Amino acid sequence: MAGDTENELASVVASAQELLKWEETLGGNGFPASDAPPPQLDVGEDAGDIRARLAVLSDEAAACTGCELHRERTQSVFARGNPETDLVFVGEGPGYHEDQQGLPFVGRAGELLDRMVAAMGYDREGVYICNVVKCRPPENRTPLPTEAQACSRFLIPQLELVRPKAIVALGRCAAENLQVAPPAGRWRGIWGEWRGIPVMPTYHPAFLLRSPQFKKPVWEDLQAVLKVLNRQPPRR
Ligand code: URA
Repeated sequence: MAGDTENELASVVASAQELLKWEETLGGNGFPASDAPPPQLDVGEDAGDIRARLAVLSDEAAACTGCELHRERTQSVFARGNPETDLVFVGEGPGYHEDQQGLPFVGRAGELLDRMVAAMGYDREGVYICNVVKCRPPENRTPLPTEAQACSRFLIPQLELVRPKAIVALGRCAAENLQVAPPAGRWRGIWGEWRGIPVMPTYHPAFLLRSPQFKKPVWEDLQAVLKVLNRQPPRR
């Protein structure tokens, strides 16, 4: 009995320490140092082929006129990171900086996402990051269902080609489009599945910038993802 209580206490202390580290990571400036080993990658025989097919899709997205969003884009924003990863993050759509640079999550929300990725023990370029829509919605509004539908001709094959072991859906838009969020009610932190891949829906980093009190549940979600991937957060 005493042993049980001690174990329980040790586990509460361990998660409190993890949480403190996480808060420190997200609250601080710059990227946390990480001495974690690089992610274990499952590089298939046809990794080059996958990259080539992703490059074709990316070129097609650059030329796409399938919805109104193409009219105001500076350029399409396909993805960044490593397609040979076990972990993919899906956001909503490019904002101003992403539209300018042609890369997803490079603004303030992107900096926070990078810190979340580092806190999980991954390299910034060790995960794959993309969005539901590849062109910037005006005023950064949420993509319309018709726009998300039109852009699914890129997102679906993109995720099928990368085939990670887990997907993190950032925000309700991504969660709904990966069909892991009900139209109303609670959705964050509830595992779903997209074509056989576990999907964890959690809050969007842009929301966390406005409402930092929700960092804790997001960290719990990301820890659940690490568990599915058989990985530990790094020691710092
Ligand atoms: N928000 C997103 O959802 N995606 C980005 O690429 C940037 C901000």
